[in-house]
Amino acid sequence: MNLQTQQETGSRLAWLRSWQPRSLHCDAMSLPAEMYFSPDIYRLEQQHVFGKHWYYVGHISQLEEAGSYFTVDIAGQPLIILKNRVGELRAFFNICTHRAGPLALGSGKCNHLTCLYHAWSFDLDGNLRGIPDMEAAENFDTADYGLAPVQIDTWGPFIFVNPDLNAPPLAVQLGDLPDLFQRYQLDTWRRVHTIDYWVDANWKLYVENNAEYYHEPIVHPCLLRYYKHNTAEARHYHYLQYTPVLTEDDRWFLADPGYYIPGLTPEEMERIAVMSFFPNFAWILSPGHAIIYLIDPQGPTRTRIRWEWLVPNTAIATAEENVQPLVEFGDKIQKEDLLLLPEIQKRVQAIGYKPGRLSPTKEMGTHLFQEFIMKAIQRGEGKG
Ligand code: FES
Ligand SMILES: [Fe+2]
Repeated sequence: MNLQTQQETGSRLAWLRSWQPRSLHCDAMSLPAEMYFSPDIYRLEQQHVFGKHWYYVGHISQLEEAGSYFTVDIAGQPLIILKNRVGELRAFFNICTHRAGPLALGSGKCNHLTCLYHAWSFDLDGNLRGIPDMEAAENFDTADYGLAPVQIDTWGPFIFVNPDLNAPPLAVQLGDLPDLFQRYQLDTWRRVHTIDYWVDANWKLYVENNAEYYHEPIVHPCLLRYYKHNTAEARHYHYLQYTPVLTEDDRWFLADPGYYIPGLTPEEMERIAVMSFFPNFAWILSPGHAIIYLIDPQGPTRTRIRWEWLVPNTAIATAEENVQPLVEFGDKIQKEDLLLLPEIQKRVQAIGYKPGRLSPTKEMGTHLFQEFIMKAIQRGEGKG
């Protein structure tokens, strides 16, 4: 970006500098319109949200053995996630250090990574090993051309990365979430179904919607009966909502111990946890099944949401007759949200849009998320 462009962008975003955190009870408002469609904001989110926080990239079962890899481009950042020769997790920018070719596409298994453009090749720890027809290059030290690493860590079976090599460990961002959900033993569950959903809406509209149940009785009439019984809190980097199991229909999983995970407390057996973890991970978790969300911004007004259904790894829980109704129910709820979000997107971009007041008792998750975004961008731009 040249100086003039920087100055133009700076003045276009002057309102960002004056943004102040607000109290949920006294004066919290939804975000300014530009947050939902501006390419400048999207670029700042790539740098300061996804560039500096731990975000979700995939499930450990996508990497079965040493040499397994998969690629992602969440928020437009091409990464390769792999297990090296001794089975340790590694993540790198999937950007060749010669002229930005891809080292791999999709997923698979390999002994080394060979660029798809001019065949420079790297070992699975990112070191440059093979360089065809470069003998004549002077002042060329291959040690300077290793792949750019990205921090990688796991929470149970869930893989997270952080491009900021100086960022604190994943455990700091997670806080007490691993303790809260430890009894679910999610690393023993099996991934049984995956759907990629696409929506013409900014990724934050999806996350904000997922961090409140205010909309549920209207957008999802089948959830109306839970509304008055829900509880929710937002703290540290997460929103957590508990929906109680109310009727015999909700207790279908008690029909056979194979349907649910053993060792849960009576409270855990009686509730469904809806969790949203900043910035792009979420789940719906019951004693007998989970839907895991990977929220993937693919531009200022386009979002992919990968849903993966997990169930306890027993014959009865993984059977098609069990999985299919779970998928159908989740899919119905998801489509109800995805039908509405493009309508919200259209309206936040309209000249008649103004930020509105948030509900102090129902939108604490949306509020926390919005404040994180604004603070992350301000901090990244040196104004926080
Ligand atoms: S861009 Fe990778 S070898 Fe040329
Ligand atoms: Fe919803």
